[in-house]
Formats: sequence, C-alpha cells, structure tokens
Amino acid sequence: MLGNFTFCNPTRLYFGEGAIKNLKDELEKYGPTVMLVYGGGSIKKNGIYDAVVSVLKECGKKIVEDGGVMPNPTSKKLEEGARIARENNVDLILAVGGGSVCDYSKAVSVSAYCGEDPWEKYYIRFEEPTCKIIPVGCVLTMVGTGSEMNGGAVITNHEQKLKIGHVFGSDVFPKFSVLDPAYTYTLPRYQMVAGFYDIMSHILEQYFSGEDDNTSDYLSEGLLRSLIHSSLIAVENPRDYEARSNIMWTATWALNTLIAQGKTTDWEVHMLGQAVGAYTDATHGMTLAAVSMAYYRHILPYGLKKFARYAVNVWGVNAEGKSDEQVANEGLAAMEAWMNKIGLVMNLKDLGVTEDIIEGIADATLIMQGGYKVLTREEVVEILKASL
Ligand code: NZQ
Ligand code: ZN
Repeated sequence: MLGNFTFCNPTRLYFGEGAIKNLKDELEKYGPTVMLVYGGGSIKKNGIYDAVVSVLKECGKKIVEDGGVMPNPTSKKLEEGARIARENNVDLILAVGGGSVCDYSKAVSVSAYCGEDPWEKYYIRFEEPTCKIIPVGCVLTMVGTGSEMNGGAVITNHEQKLKIGHVFGSDVFPKFSVLDPAYTYTLPRYQMVAGFYDIMSHILEQYFSGEDDNTSDYLSEGLLRSLIHSSLIAVENPRDYEARSNIMWTATWALNTLIAQGKTTDWEVHMLGQAVGAYTDATHGMTLAAVSMAYYRHILPYGLKKFARYAVNVWGVNAEGKSDEQVANEGLAAMEAWMNKIGLVMNLKDLGVTEDIIEGIADATLIMQGGYKVLTREEVVEILKASL
C-alpha cells in the first residue's frame, strides 16, 4: 500500500542549453547583495564564472565572493561562510558548482543567523532551523547529488571524523536552479562517472525497501533504465548532449523526494559511504560504488523478491526456469559488470582504506532501519572488509 504523504517541491528549474539566460529574471526578485559561492576554480577555467558574473553585473548586484568550497565541504568552511553571509547582510546565496557547493550554500543559509555552532545544532542534534533563512539559487555544473532540487546539505567534520547529511525542509530547498547539460562537459571522467553512480545509488536506496506495490518503484525502474542506457553512451562520448541531458534530468528526479513518497527507504549504502568519506575524503560516488556490491549481496536473501524484480525489470534478466535466487544474483552480476564498464572504483583499497581504519569507519557508520536487514555492527565490519 502507498502510505499517506504531502508532496511539495518549491524549486523552479530552468533546464537546457543556454538556460543561464533565465538567471536575470530570478536575480531581479532579490535584494542588491549576492553571495557568489563556488569551488576550487573549475568555473574560472570553463567560462561559467564569467557568464554568471556578467549577469550579476547587468542586474547591478553587489557581489560578495566565497570561493574555495572543497569537495565534501567542512564544518570549518561552513563557519567561515556563515560569517561572510552575516557580515555582508546578503540577500541571496548563488551557488555555482556541484553538490558540494550547493550543499554548502544551503548549510550557510541556515547558519548565518542561527546564533550558535551550526555543526552541533544541525548535524549532531539534528534540529530544524528557527532563524532567518537566506534564499539560495543554484547554477549546477556537476550532476549526481540532486542537491539542485532538494533540502540535503552534507557536511564533513574532520576533527570528529564524521560526515553527516541534514535533510532540511522545503524552506531550505533552492528557490531556483539552472541546469545546462553542456555546463557539465568539462567534468573530468572520474567525477562524471562518480556522479552516475551517485544517481544509481540514490534510486536504489529508495527502491530496495518495503514490499508494497507502489508507483514510486515503477518510476525508479524507469529512471534506472534511462540512466544505464545513457551512461553507456556518455562514457563513449562525454559530449553526447542527448545522453548528458537525460542523465542530468534523471539525477534531479532521483533525489528530489518524488520517488520516496508513500514508501520506506534504506540509505545504508550512503551511511557506509559517508563514513568512508569521513576517513578518506574520497569522492562521494566512488565511496558508494566501493561498498555497494558487498552490501547488496549481503542483504539479498532478506529482500529476495525485490532483487529478482530488479534483475528482470531493470537488467532484462530472463527468469524462465530459474529460482528467484538465481535471477536476483544474475541481476547483481549485470549491475557489477555495468559498474566495471563505466569505470567505477570497485574496492575500498583504491580509496585509501586500510585494515586498521575499518573499526573506526564502522563506528562512524549510522545504522538505518528501513532496509531489508537492519545491520549489526559486526555486519558493518564484515561488509567493509568484503569491500576492501
Ligand atoms: O571545486 P571545483 O574546482 O569546481 O571542481 C569540482 C570538484 O573538484 C569538479 N567540478 C564540478 N563541476 C565541474 C567540475 N570540474 C570541471 N568542470 C565542471 N563543470 O568536480 C569535483 C567534485 O565536485 P562536488 O561538488 O564535490 O561533487 P558532487 O556534485 O558529487 O557533490 C558531492 C557532495 O554532495 C554530497 C556529498 O556527500 C558530497 O559532500 N551529497 C549531497 C546530497 C544532497 N544534497 O542531497 C546527496 C548525496 O548523496 C551526497 O551525499
Ligand atoms: Zn549520494
């Protein structure tokens, strides 16, 4: 049965080549001071910085820059951003970058006026914002996280060796996002395919939970098939607009709350991946890829019917004359072959994990309740070791 829900996604999207032309209309809705947030400099090399700044100038905005947002943004950087936003009394935060820049901007938006340590408030105590929230807009340059249309903001605390996501409510969703698939052409291949797997994982985290017959799971299967199809084209030709635009759209729908409505979700792969990230600072999508096969093979017996359905509906496995177990395993084998083909990192060693930090990673792994098997700590260690 599909459970009851309220669905509202307030983010306005501008999608397609040249979508930046819509930025002007959005900027006009806000006051004079814009905090321009970006990462380590890719946007200065590929021209996106110039394109955005020229629109900001055209609109007569005062620009307050906050660059240098690192992949996996830190709590320390968040404090700096919150101070910049507060001291300059900014009217809009404009995030130009990938998930890290978008997440960071949302975290700054709720931290500038929170009056205390935002890490403690939002990431340890998981409280909701009660202060003024600065509006955020995004110009997306990297596809995967879905941050452009959701309330997620993942922050890493290196001192505490924790990487934690807070999923904020619709007040914190970007007010608008500009999605131009061509803006992602300059991504290094490693980042591009890590993003592809992030999308895959978001869908699977919501799909592999519950046994009800619901529309969300059918939507998920469609999104997965589109992603698999387009990813194989994009790795051959990263400038294939059709493939890149389909993938960009799939990423947004994979994590804009739609496919989670009315059903339970898992998210254990993300908890494992984030703990690995806290210890290694590795690329998010690769941390997920490295632990996924061991995790899914471990929980397969507990969700056998769904894994068999996945094999048939997503991977086209022929079920005739085979047991559910056989079919389910063939589905996972097909998934693993696809992962290898697009060039994902398939083990934790390649991300810098060594035996001696496994226990620490296990301690940093939150245990979720919605998957087919609630893991014990021993099982977490077992899965991490099997992923080495
Ligand atoms: O920093 P710059 O120089 O811009 O380079 C970035 C960065 O090195 C580069 N890049 C981005 N766009 C580019 C480009 N390089 C060339 N051309 C372009 N067009 O790519 C690198 C990675 O960027 P990043 O933003 O870190 O990647 P991603 O989008 O994967 O974001 C990862 C962060 O998002 C969080 C992750 O945990 C991680 O902290 N997540 C956020 C979620 C959410 N909001 O719902 C959910 C996800 O599960 C995820 O946890
Ligand atoms: Zn993710």
